Amino acid sequence: MRLKLHFSRLGFCLLPLFVVLACQPAPTHVEQGATSMAQFIAGMPKAELHLHLEGTLSPQTIVTITKRNGIDYFRSVEEVKKSLADRKPGLMGFLGHHNKSRDVLQTQQDFYDATFNLLKNLKDNNIIYSEIFFDPQPFTNRGIAFDDIINGIDTGRRDGEKTYGITAELIMSINRELSVDSAFAMLDLAYAHRGKILGLGLDSGPEYGNPPIKFKAVYQRAKEQGYHLTGHHDVDVRDSLKHIWQSLDQVALERIDHGLMAVDDPALIKELVRRGICLTGSPVKRATDPRMQDVDRIIYLDAQGVCVSLNSDDPAEFETGYLTNMMVVFQEESGYSRADMVRLMRNAFTASWLPEAEKQNYLIALENYLRTHESGH
Ligand code: ADE
Ligand code: ZN
Repeated sequence: MRLKLHFSRLGFCLLPLFVVLACQPAPTHVEQGATSMAQFIAGMPKAELHLHLEGTLSPQTIVTITKRNGIDYFRSVEEVKKSLADRKPGLMGFLGHHNKSRDVLQTQQDFYDATFNLLKNLKDNNIIYSEIFFDPQPFTNRGIAFDDIINGIDTGRRDGEKTYGITAELIMSINRELSVDSAFAMLDLAYAHRGKILGLGLDSGPEYGNPPIKFKAVYQRAKEQGYHLTGHHDVDVRDSLKHIWQSLDQVALERIDHGLMAVDDPALIKELVRRGICLTGSPVKRATDPRMQDVDRIIYLDAQGVCVSLNSDDPAEFETGYLTNMMVVFQEESGYSRADMVRLMRNAFTASWLPEAEKQNYLIALENYLRTHESGH
């Protein structure tokens, strides 16, 4: 059904999907004089599976919303940029700013605007299919109605889908630092809306002390209610490998977000390959990082046959930004060929929760894109 919608949304020609996608011009934001490799990456039809709505608020959007809601911090773009620049290293340092900017969202209109703006950015990056995380608990804990959150996000993505001719699905995420009861309460609130939400995730932190097994019963109920299952296993977190094994053997997650510490465990690598479990890697770069993070880990896992995809995670909060730019930086640092970059993008479509027939169509579109743009640097 979705596929038919794509045909009609694209409107300008009635060619099969793979031909239409291969014909897509590179987005106009690629600078004049960009290398042909950068243009190749920009024009590539993309899927993104690891992207947090709350991490996509630009400094300008944050300021517009704080003014609208009478919030007494982040009153200027400079203030937001200073907060970004002052972050401490590591996951908890990252979350300090992330959570503060997340908290500017209060009304259904805020959630709508954030989501609609995001879909415009996805379109600009040629991301034709996405699965977007959102974290309801910090909002409902402050008295914001679950219905306002989900209805704002759902209407924003539906309008965005119609306007931009792309598909955006939703993954509701558990805040792992909160209680199991709180996660169950979220699942109950979501029950009436479960047709709008594709999967259940697990994010925020600290991760150490809040392992995936803590939420085994929540995941089990979510599975019974028809959700797909994934969860964050951030890099450089204590016990990351133990958590990944738990997620595979005891929680039965279908996908692992990040998970790149697997490089340190040959048995785990083998098991990920054997089971076809994919990792949603996010090789981002902050302004203070000398190099993009995790490039070597991704190259190694890819060489071992692990299904790893590239994702922007929180594009407004990292120097690498949205997916096209992030992939360009990754290609420059890895030296990957066009075929290599397409292989990583194949992994994203393979790992997606698209219906099988649609997945195959997107994969054909991608192969066709490579074939028609094979030469160049
Ligand atoms: N929330 C947003 N991005 C996250 C990440 N990379 N890890 C955990 N929680 C997050
Ligand atoms: Zn994430």
